[in-house]
Amino acid sequence: MELLKNKVEETSKKITQYGYQEGAGMTRLLYTEEWLAAQNTFLDLFEKNGLQAYSDDVGNVYGRLEGREYPDQVIMSGSHIDTVVNGGNLDGQFGIEAAFIALQYLKDKHGSPKRTLEVVSLAEEEGSRFPYVFWGSKNIVGIADNEAVKGLTDNKGVNFVDAMRECGFDFATDRTVRKDIKAFIELHIEQGKVLETEGKQLGVVTSIAGQRRYNITLKGEANHAGTTPMGYRKDTVYAFSKICSQSIDKAKAEGDPLVLTFGKVVPKPNTVNVVPGETLFSMDCRHTDKDKLISFSNQMVEDMKQICAEMEIEIDVDLWMDEEPIPMDPTLVDLIDTTFEAKGANYRRMHSGAGHDSQIFAPRIPTGMIFIPSVAGISHNPAEHTDISDLTVGVEALINVLYELAYK
Ligand code: GLV
Ligand code: MN
Ligand code: MN
Repeated sequence: MELLKNKVEETSKKITQYGYQEGAGMTRLLYTEEWLAAQNTFLDLFEKNGLQAYSDDVGNVYGRLEGREYPDQVIMSGSHIDTVVNGGNLDGQFGIEAAFIALQYLKDKHGSPKRTLEVVSLAEEEGSRFPYVFWGSKNIVGIADNEAVKGLTDNKGVNFVDAMRECGFDFATDRTVRKDIKAFIELHIEQGKVLETEGKQLGVVTSIAGQRRYNITLKGEANHAGTTPMGYRKDTVYAFSKICSQSIDKAKAEGDPLVLTFGKVVPKPNTVNVVPGETLFSMDCRHTDKDKLISFSNQMVEDMKQICAEMEIEIDVDLWMDEEPIPMDPTLVDLIDTTFEAKGANYRRMHSGAGHDSQIFAPRIPTGMIFIPSVAGISHNPAEHTDISDLTVGVEALINVLYELAYK
C-alpha cells in the first residue's frame, strides 16, 4: 500500500508539471507544447520501467508488457492526457498513472502475463481545443472523422492539421486500426458526489450517459447603447438569457438523470456601450436514456427558435456531438463486481454522467470502468481532488481486475 501510494505521488508530480499553473489548475490541450511534453514523459517512464514504449500515428502513447501465452490478446487500460481549460490533474491523467503503476506492480510481483497488458495515454477526449471529441480512442478503433477535423480551428485560428504537424504527426489517413484489444478497463475519478455521499470507496460503472453538444449563434443588431431605445433593439444577450433561463427551468422540471449546461457564452462585440449584435453559446445535454435525450434536446432547440422568431433574431444551430448512452460490457461489469466482492471492497454499481473514452471502445471491445470518489464531487475545476488513500485503493482495484484478465 505504501509502495503504491509513493508511486502515485511520484508519477503524478512528473506529469502534472506540464500544464499546471498556480491558481489556474491544469490546462493541457491537444497538440500543445505541454501536451507533447506529458506524452513524451510517459513514453520515457514506460521505457525506463521495462515496458515496450511506442506512440501511434496521432500521438496516443503506449507501454506494453508482452503476454507469454497469448501475445496477440491485449488487455488495455488507461485514459486521456488532455484536460479541460482550468481543470484538475486527475481527470484522465490519473487513469493513465494508475494503469502504468498497475503494470509495474504486476510485472514485479507475477512476471510476464499470459495475455499482453498495455497502458495507454490517449491523445484527446475533452474537445477543449477543437470542437471534436475522443480523437485518441476513435483513431484506435478506426472511427475518427478525418474530413470533419480537417476544417477545424482553435480559439486562436490554428488549424487542427497544422497543430498536429507542429507536434510531429503527419495527417496520413491510412492509420492502424487495433484489432488485438480483447478488453479495455478505464479507472477514473467519479467527478460527482455519489460515492462520497454514500461513503463508498469504489464504483463499478454500468453505463455512460449519452450526450449532445451544440454550438449556437444568435444574430441580431449591434447598435449604440445610448441612442437605441429599448423597443428598437435586437439584443442577442437578452435572447440568450431568455433561452437559458427557460431551458434550465425545463431541465429542472424534467429531473434526474437529465442534465443541461450552457457553459460557454461569447457576446459580440462584448463591450459596455454596444448592444450585443451577436452571441455564440454552447449547449450540453445528457441523459442515460437515448429517446429522452433526443426528445428533450430537440424540444430545447424548438423553444429557442421560437424565442428568436419572436425577437426577430436569427439563429443557427450546430449539433456537433451526438453520442448515445453506452452500456459497459455485462461480463466485465460482473467480473469487476466479483473481484471487488472477493476483496471485501466497499463499492456500488452506478452510471457515469461524464463522457469517457470507454464509450468509444465499449460498442467494439469489451469495456469496463471503475470509479473512485471525488472530494465534494468537484471536477473540471482546479479544486478537483481525491484523497491519496482513495487513489491508492483505485490502483489496487485496477491491479486486481487486470490480474484476473491478463494472468488467469
Ligand atoms: C468529459 O469530461 C465530459 O463529460 O464533458
Ligand atoms: Mn473531463
Ligand atoms: Mn475524463
